[in-house]
Amino acid sequence: MTAQQRTSVPDPITRALLGWQPARVLMTANRLNVFNVLGEDQLNAAAIAARCGCHPRSMKLLLNACVALGFLEKRGKQFANTPSGREVLLRGKPAYIGDGINHADALWFRWAFLTDSVRSNRSARTPPGPVDGATGYRDFILAMHNRAMRHAEVLADHLDLTGRRQLFDAGGGPGTYSIFLLKKHPQLGAIIFDLPPAIEIARQIVHRFGMTDRVTFRPGNFHEDDFGEGNDVVLFSAIFHSLSPQRARALLSRAWDSLVGGGLVVVHEGLVNDDKASPVSAVLFSLNMLVNVGEGRSYSAREIMSWLTDAGFVSPRLQHLPPPAGTSLVLGTRP
Ligand SMILES: C[S@@+](CC[C@H](N)C(=O)[O-])C[C@H]1O[C@@H](n2cnc3c(N)ncnc32)[C@H](O)[C@@H]1O
Repeated sequence: MTAQQRTSVPDPITRALLGWQPARVLMTANRLNVFNVLGEDQLNAAAIAARCGCHPRSMKLLLNACVALGFLEKRGKQFANTPSGREVLLRGKPAYIGDGINHADALWFRWAFLTDSVRSNRSARTPPGPVDGATGYRDFILAMHNRAMRHAEVLADHLDLTGRRQLFDAGGGPGTYSIFLLKKHPQLGAIIFDLPPAIEIARQIVHRFGMTDRVTFRPGNFHEDDFGEGNDVVLFSAIFHSLSPQRARALLSRAWDSLVGGGLVVVHEGLVNDDKASPVSAVLFSLNMLVNVGEGRSYSAREIMSWLTDAGFVSPRLQHLPPPAGTSLVLGTRP
């Protein structure tokens, strides 16, 4: 055997090749509502298939794959959720991530066209799929809520808003970060600004948290509308990665115009390192923006700080948020 024939496939390549099938199994089981049909019970494959509207033979194959991958447990012929799976896969649990899994399912559709996007530098030209339309948009906003339910408390614990009175949450989505900041700071009021369909979802979530009297909902387009005046804090959470540097800079100048002297701009992102090749999450997220938006990518702290300085903000600073957030804040002050 020659040296070349003996060469084994390197680990990262093997891992990558094995990775997409488990993800697909999870997304299909979630989309078919398997986990919520099971709830706290145990059922056989035929009963699950009937309740999910699927063929019993193929459902059994899917369920056994879920067991093999650790998503479900099997007792004799009965299937059940695992104790840890119940916490994140059952609707209504505080750590629920099922909307996020449905959103990932929608992104999968776009990622299937990554090759075309890399050729053209444009977002994926797909036939209409689960990422499109009102349902896809709702999954997207609720996925942001699922994620923020795990991260927002950490952000609120680390972002000092003592003495601040008016938070403008630009592209606030479900409003979860505003909610946790309001919980932490009783003197604070928030303006959640987003496109009209997101505002409708934010209203429901803010109401559920009993915060409606401290929130103003403002539907609008941040590329066209101003941010009002008298803001103490402008938050851009997970906004810049979907924009070109020019558009991100334009939003910073809108923030500047709306802020009081001493006001704070806060950019919350998963940052890429200066080498642009780490960490993996940020690097892959850049490709996610390519297939979905066609522009934007993960930016580095250095890039965002230079935009802040160019916009006139002083004391640009970086703050890393500990796990489970693992994201970062880049802050600047309007003198
Ligand atoms: C990735 S989500 C982030 C949501 C929220 N800030 C968070 O961190 O959970 C991006 C948000 O920007 C909003 N958005 C996108 N384009 C917008 C526009 N032109 N004007 C206002 N909001 C916009 C989206 O609707 C969405 O809610």
